[in-house]
Amino acid sequence: MSTSTEAFPALTNDLLLRAARQEPVERTPVWMMRQAGRYLPEYRALRADHDFFTVVRTPELAAEVTLQPIERFPLDAAIIFSDILVIPQALGLDVQMVKGKGPHFPDPLSGPEDLERLRTPDVSQELAYVFEALTLTRRRLEGRVPLIGFCGAPWTLMAYMIEGGGSKSFTTSRSWLYRHPEASRRLLQAITDVCVEYLIRQIDAGAQVVQVFDSWAGLLGPATFETFALPYLRQIAEKVERAHPDVPCIVFAKGAPYALPALADTAYDVISLDWTMDPREALRATGGRKALQGNLDPAALYAPPDAIRQEVRRMLQAFGPRGHIGNLGHGMHPDHDPEHARAFIEAVHEESAAMVSQS
Ligand code: CP3
Repeated sequence: MSTSTEAFPALTNDLLLRAARQEPVERTPVWMMRQAGRYLPEYRALRADHDFFTVVRTPELAAEVTLQPIERFPLDAAIIFSDILVIPQALGLDVQMVKGKGPHFPDPLSGPEDLERLRTPDVSQELAYVFEALTLTRRRLEGRVPLIGFCGAPWTLMAYMIEGGGSKSFTTSRSWLYRHPEASRRLLQAITDVCVEYLIRQIDAGAQVVQVFDSWAGLLGPATFETFALPYLRQIAEKVERAHPDVPCIVFAKGAPYALPALADTAYDVISLDWTMDPREALRATGGRKALQGNLDPAALYAPPDAIRQEVRRMLQAFGPRGHIGNLGHGMHPDHDPEHARAFIEAVHEESAAMVSQS
């Protein structure tokens, strides 16, 4: 298998990379979190024959699903089909995807003594299927759009590893931060070490951008975020940047607007906003030092296409044409109409191109 990036064709659409560097663009690039998924009939058809983690672990299937939204829509990026929970699996925990329920850990971490159960994974071996999927997908993209790699943030992964699945308040994992601060730090550092190597190897294998998902950052407060999330997020960006200085890093700390000034002071290039954050306030909070990504409310995609366009116009005006990557404020929902996703993408393209040509 070739992992040399010279083997890949040159990009014909590099809008996302330019926006990430806050360089001028003719129009705003756009992609959607969970753009490959159950709202697409072609995804549901493939999933009817294969369970979730089989798709994730089979490079041929993962590449096919990654490309489904790219074949269907004029998107400006592909994101590799995988899951943030492959890291807990590599650390030795069993994770299942239960239909209608989401992720389930049959045997989550119940106390600090359980850290002994975790292994130090050989990332190149344990997660080789992700690297192969990236290389295969990058080849099949033939330079059409950049390929995004990703991982879960240490706090979000710790929360799942202790809680054993989704939860409303994640009380058990949050209580660890107060009851077992030392063990929490040890766990977070162990996860961080894997995240760093994992992202670096994803880039080696063909990822042209990487995103760190801190989906449960909003469960923390400013003080716990500063102690238990920020230092690890920071380490990831610094170490990935050292290994691959030219590859943009995106951070998505969902529900944590108080974190924006601190995140503006890290090595991340792009900060992704959820829909509760005001773009103009985010621009102020980050002092314009980072590109911003987001942040249409996924619920807006239930509206008719005309209303979607109006919401997109409002979003584009608030961010401005420079240093903005169009996206939703969180992922696509399984009952979204694919044609409404198309309306969103086309509106970002057309409305932003009109704004740029008028300025
Ligand atoms: O964005 C993409 O298109 C790439 C694929 C992707 C998936 N998961 C596929 C997936 C990405 C980037 C993720 C990240 C992920 N996984 C996150 C962070 C982003 C976020 O949503 O906050 C989280 C928290 C997870 C953990 C996870 N995986 C949950 C909570 C669930 C269940 C959610 C649900 O809607 O059922 C998953 C399953 C999952 N991951 C699906 C997909 C397409 C649906 C599973 C299926 O096909 O049955």
